Amino acid sequence: MIQLHDKQFEIFIEQAIIENRIKELALSISKDYSGKCPIFLAILNGSFLFAAELMKSVSIECEITFLRVSSYHSTTSSGKITEVLGLKEDITGRDVIVLEDIVDTGLTMAEIKKQLLAKNPKSLEIASLFQKPEALKTPIDIRYIGFELENKFVLGYGLDYDGLGRNLPDLYVLHEK
Ligand code: IMP
Repeated sequence: MIQLHDKQFEIFIEQAIIENRIKELALSISKDYSGKCPIFLAILNGSFLFAAELMKSVSIECEITFLRVSSYHSTTSSGKITEVLGLKEDITGRDVIVLEDIVDTGLTMAEIKKQLLAKNPKSLEIASLFQKPEALKTPIDIRYIGFELENKFVLGYGLDYDGLGRNLPDLYVLHEK
């Protein structure tokens, strides 16, 4: 058990299991994109460990770049505005694979997808290390999923709780008392 800020977390999925699964995803991607040169767009901060581990096992020619998503509440309209920042590469006509740490409601990924599709890539697929299917609020097609999780807060392996925990090599889940 570990304590971060005001909450306790217990180990949930060990590093070796996570990394074996990432290798499987890398093999599938390498097979599916054989003869192509996809560009991976890794969403910071959460996907940095997933992206690094995946890249080591992708055996085809490929590129990677990193994006950030700024999310803020609009004062004029209802809901959140999500903006994709930092894409300098031209993805027109490219095979794009977005790398995300976790898809929760799916709202962030739906918005990222919309903004990237507007740049006319040849294809666009999503690879997410984790997903919480029960939390989905919008239908979203995720081609590569590492693990499907229950609808509980998790951290570690790149994911944080209020800034902390990204460095933990295993995945932890919130301890319910
Ligand atoms: P969504 O728009 O609800 O799908 O939120 C996606 C983002 O919320 C992810 O990229 C994470 O940064 C964050 N997030 C969602 N669930 C968790 C969690 O259980 N732990 C840590 N971060 C999470």
